Amino acid sequence: MINKISFVAILSLLLIFPTSLILGAEASTTGRDTLELPIGIGGGGGSSKDCGSGRLLENPDKSECPQAKIPLLGPVIQAPLLAPVVQAPIVQEILDFVDQRLALVYPVIQMFKSTITLDPLGITKSWVGADICKYKGFYCDNPPDNGSAIALASIDFNGFGLSAPSLDGFLDRLPDIALFHANSNNFAGTISPAIAKLKYLYELDLSNNKFSGPFPMVVLGMTDLIFLDMRFNSFSGAVPAQIFTQDLYALFLNDNSFDQTLPDNLGNAHVLYLTLANNKFTGPIPGSITRALSTLTEVLFLNNQFSGCLPYEIGLLDETVVLDAGKNLLTGPLPLSLFCLEKVEQLNFAGNLFYGMVPEPICWLGLYRNLVNLSLSDNYFQHAGPWCRALIEKGILNVQNNCIPDLPFQRPVAECAHFFALPRPCPRMWSYSYVPCNHADLDSLVPGTAPTP
Ligand SMILES: *[C@@H]1O[C@H](CO)[C@@H](O)[C@H](O)[C@H]1NC(C)=O
Ligand SMILES: *[C@@H]1O[C@H](CO)[C@@H](O)[C@H](O)[C@H]1NC(C)=O
Repeated sequence: MINKISFVAILSLLLIFPTSLILGAEASTTGRDTLELPIGIGGGGGSSKDCGSGRLLENPDKSECPQAKIPLLGPVIQAPLLAPVVQAPIVQEILDFVDQRLALVYPVIQMFKSTITLDPLGITKSWVGADICKYKGFYCDNPPDNGSAIALASIDFNGFGLSAPSLDGFLDRLPDIALFHANSNNFAGTISPAIAKLKYLYELDLSNNKFSGPFPMVVLGMTDLIFLDMRFNSFSGAVPAQIFTQDLYALFLNDNSFDQTLPDNLGNAHVLYLTLANNKFTGPIPGSITRALSTLTEVLFLNNQFSGCLPYEIGLLDETVVLDAGKNLLTGPLPLSLFCLEKVEQLNFAGNLFYGMVPEPICWLGLYRNLVNLSLSDNYFQHAGPWCRALIEKGILNVQNNCIPDLPFQRPVAECAHFFALPRPCPRMWSYSYVPCNHADLDSLVPGTAPTP
């Protein structure tokens, strides 16, 4: 069998990029042996630690996390490239590809290149000739179905700033692609159902682009997919309940316009990173979701329109390091079950409608466990006990703009009176003093606060 095949390309495109061949011949060969790509697999021991401090909400080009090293193929044999005669209106070029799979994706890439309207870093200048594996942003590897073949296995366009109206006809026509990372570009359009054909795709990062339209239902059937990052786009509508139970490692949905209530019938979810922040989710945070997501280390409900009372099941998120439900319409007392979040470092409930006493056992976490930031400002809390006051002293607890009579920087009395004029009962009132764990003897800490249901 021949292992090099010839490909005759009619490159009218070269008229648009007359200098690109010359520059492309000198394309640099950075990062050929190992490349750090953001990836959904935990990788080395330190990765979840790096992710455990609320960094998931940052602009994703600055917080590529979690990460693992992906070994990539060493340099492939330089394919001979015949110097084209650029004078002719239509240039014929004979390209030798090291593998037929590369010949197949070559026209797909060139077609996509012709749709790119902005390329501030001059990336696409390197997208010329037969050696696709040396194009900037393109990486080759042996495909899973044939260890001796060479295929386009991953794409990393992170931070390239490319503009294109759509990925249709590109992403869906790269049959061997396993990783597609495109954060911080200006790609637009919707995600085509045709990506269902990509049987090896396991990481899809579309973050910080201009994608719109509904949640791409096609991903529900993609069983190899473990990492889905849709942050910082304009996706809208509902998020299908099934996605929470799909075998995903990371699901980033923050900073879009998703707007439905969360499903209350989740089974087991495996996702370790879930971000819902800065959308338009409404309705309560269901108890079932916290049960289902008990493996999560970061739980971000921040800045939506979640309403109702917190379920005590929130205390079952016992792997959680960051729990952020700030800037919603949540009300009721804080459930004592939060005491069970022994690993929690950041707790944010600021900017809601919470009231009652700041539970002393939660403040205890700041004195004797890992809690370093308890944000309760802009609520309607009325009391803070001695441990909580100690936390205020330490700068860990912020209760500004509440209704605690003897503390500074509180709401005006009339504003508090107005708020409390309306009754705001919660269902299952017993559950607010229920503590579903026994990592410390709560009864001896705060006598009488831990009855069982
Ligand atoms: C594997 O790939 C090599 C290189 O492309 C090719 O020659 C060979 O026929 C392929 N084997 C199978 C079983 O497809
Ligand atoms: C604590 O968290 C809040 C809410 O996320 C944040 O605004 C604030 O800056 C943090 N405080 C410190 C001292 O890190």
